[in-house]
Amino acid sequence: MAKLIGNKKINCAVFISGRGTNLKSLIKYSKEKKSPIKIILIISNNKNAKGLKQSKIFNIDKGIFNFKNKIKDEKKILNLLKRKKIKLVCLAGFMKILSKNFIKIFSYPILNIHPSLLPKYKGLDVHKRVIINRERYTGCTVHIVSNKLDSGKIILQKKIKIYKKDNPISLEKRLLKHENKIYPMAVKKVCSNL
Ligand code: GRF
Repeated sequence: MAKLIGNKKINCAVFISGRGTNLKSLIKYSKEKKSPIKIILIISNNKNAKGLKQSKIFNIDKGIFNFKNKIKDEKKILNLLKRKKIKLVCLAGFMKILSKNFIKIFSYPILNIHPSLLPKYKGLDVHKRVIINRERYTGCTVHIVSNKLDSGKIILQKKIKIYKKDNPISLEKRLLKHENKIYPMAVKKVCSNL
């Protein structure tokens, strides 16, 4: 595993598919003086992802791979990560599932943020499902990516209350603020163990 020596920051890549609020909060965190990371690459499977604007704003390299040929695209991404000496990958709303092979070959941590209190509510449409099931609480989780979907070691979680008046949209909006807060905190925690 990589060692954080002196002031040297860890090169980090963030993978997105859409809006990019978590990407934005990670970039903001990376600009703090004491932050252990430097975001030097943004990967997207969607050329129209709103989050890609951050690449221009902050002058961060981007790579777009549509995953139509997953094996080939993963190989290209792995080469890119190697070339750029990336030692941490953060998935932030990345809607493709990385293969076992990718996770094995990239031997550094891959983090993901999921909008539920894992291990509950893996997969998609979480906010809709928690409301249908009349849950009283929900939350968000940053975890290590493993071979099983939304199942790796949990790094950090935030639990929030669901109100009677909540609908999937209001819940998503409220939870997103917490996601944006805990992702950098989880990165800090992971980097302190590198
Ligand atoms: C977040 O809700 C995250 O938990 C999920 O996808 C969404 C991405 O949002 N994995 P954003 O693109 O970071 O705004």
